[in-house]
Amino acid sequence: MTQDELKQAVAAAAIAYVVDGEIIGVGTGSTANFFIDELAKIKHRIKGAVASSEATAARLRGHGIEVHDLNEVDAIAVYVDGADEITSTGAMIKGGGAALTREKIVASVAAKFVCIADGSKLVDTLGRFPLPVEVLPMARAAVMRRLAALGGQPKLRLKSGGADAFITDNGGQIIDVAGLSIADPVALEVEINQIPGVIAVGLFALRGADVCLLGAGGGVRTLTF
Ligand code: A5P
Repeated sequence: MTQDELKQAVAAAAIAYVVDGEIIGVGTGSTANFFIDELAKIKHRIKGAVASSEATAARLRGHGIEVHDLNEVDAIAVYVDGADEITSTGAMIKGGGAALTREKIVASVAAKFVCIADGSKLVDTLGRFPLPVEVLPMARAAVMRRLAALGGQPKLRLKSGGADAFITDNGGQIIDVAGLSIADPVALEVEINQIPGVIAVGLFALRGADVCLLGAGGGVRTLTF
């Protein structure tokens, strides 16, 4: 199976976790996009969705799925999203698609986090994928110094093919930190969260996944945490 076929398979499997009549939280990225396309087929069963990015909101609306403002929603039964890396305990690195802050907010409201990923995302230790950190632009250099002091190699994310800084849906910038071997994801998440100017760190360990549907050659593997 190709990587896209694996993503498609886990996206289809995640439909089993959708709770009828409820609001669903929807993540961002190529795997989440496959999920949105699957969700469209059963859209009559849900009340609507909360999106973790403008791109996801546009795709949901394109399928005729109602997108709700999180402020108007009391509860989210399930949040479905991809990951850049996930461990066997459900801790993740996310933010390759720059939507980490809204992903973290929507996930924090959801009763259950279902991660959908192709098998290449399962790792023993987080950190081979550069850790995204969203920052307020005026704090960029100060935060980069602090991240370097933690042993990483911070790099400002640029617009693709350009020299300008990439700007997130929230008006923030993204620092990608390479070279970290993250032995204690919860401790590092807490430490980076406390640096002034950090909007969010792409470590999802304090609130990790509850379930991971992992695509492999033999089919979809379900990990529960
Ligand atoms: C978006 O900001 C990310 O957190 C994505 O969930 C993550 O990068 C996985 O993306 P893919 O499904 O495209 O691999």
